[in-house]
Amino acid sequence: MDDTQKLENEIAAAIGAASDEAALEAVRVDALGKKGRVSLLMRGLGKMSPEERQIAGPALNALKTRLNELIATRKDVLAEAALNARLETERLDMSLPARARTQGRIHPVSQVMDEVAVIFGDMGFAVAEGPDIEDDFHNFTALNFPPGHPARDQHDTFFLNEKEDGEQMVLRTHTSPVQIRTMVAAVERAKKTGGDLEPIRIIAPGRTYRCDSDQTHTPMFHQVEGLVIDKETHMGHLKGCLADFAATFFETEVKTRFRPHHFPFTEPSAEMDIGYERKDGQILIGQGDQWMEILGSGMVHPNVLTSVGIDPDVYQGFAFGMGIDRLAMLKYGIPDLRDFFAADARWLKHYGFSPLLQPNLATGLSS
Ligand code: DAH
Repeated sequence: MDDTQKLENEIAAAIGAASDEAALEAVRVDALGKKGRVSLLMRGLGKMSPEERQIAGPALNALKTRLNELIATRKDVLAEAALNARLETERLDMSLPARARTQGRIHPVSQVMDEVAVIFGDMGFAVAEGPDIEDDFHNFTALNFPPGHPARDQHDTFFLNEKEDGEQMVLRTHTSPVQIRTMVAAVERAKKTGGDLEPIRIIAPGRTYRCDSDQTHTPMFHQVEGLVIDKETHMGHLKGCLADFAATFFETEVKTRFRPHHFPFTEPSAEMDIGYERKDGQILIGQGDQWMEILGSGMVHPNVLTSVGIDPDVYQGFAFGMGIDRLAMLKYGIPDLRDFFAADARWLKHYGFSPLLQPNLATGLSS
């Protein structure tokens, strides 16, 4: 019994001295594991006489129980100490100010481009694009502005270096060159497949450039072009399409009027005006007895069709073009165009739109 007591004291001391859970586990295995010191003693019971066993058996069992209890208690102490040590190193400073959360806003120009794309998308138009740097052919000549044509001078063109073949490059003065690129591509597709020219229905939003700057003009601005080419498209389609657009875009009933005009690339040409009135210094779009011009349009000129290899006796269509920045100013009551491009975050916070609300016709273009 003395030996057993000594053993117990020794193991109890080792348990008390174990400084972490791994060390404690080593002590446990050494005492109570399969080949542990207490387990070996238990194994010795078999060789004892029944009388000896009656005393030694319960004593060893009791020892085992006491050691297990000591180990469990020590284990709790060590686990708590380990947790405290971890918490100590992971301390949070609750007095630190919260990290700023920044959320961007959608610029009114992007918003209006999206709205326009949704409206025309619903009518079956696809979105087309062209380069900002254009050649003279696409920006002017193919659109029926031959070299020397007086309408060229009205465009306040930014001229760039000439191409290798001597062709004049420009910053596109309007999105109309995308009409040319779209028709050329359609003609090439038809040639490749040997089929008919597919009907065209596109809008082309994008940047445009003119050397002009005041409260309502900036050297860079945005337009959206529209083009429809088919065999039986007429002026009635043009008018219906654009009148529908105006009402949907301004989210109210809108009076429209088409006024004869002149563009080199359309014949006949018309500008569309919308009704408005001034009330308490504000512009109310839709009704009223005042007219405001919002877009240019017309039936595509036969010379334009011919310049891209489309037979004007078989195909016809209409085109239109409008200023996106101006649409944004009108719809959202933004007074000065120059602020659009001043990169002022306060302005954008005020006039911008939530990136989480995509314009759509089901739940609303804007909210
Ligand atoms: N390109 C014209 C401009 O910038 C706008 C325009 C007018 C486009 C009539 C068209 C159109 O497609 O048919 O002033």
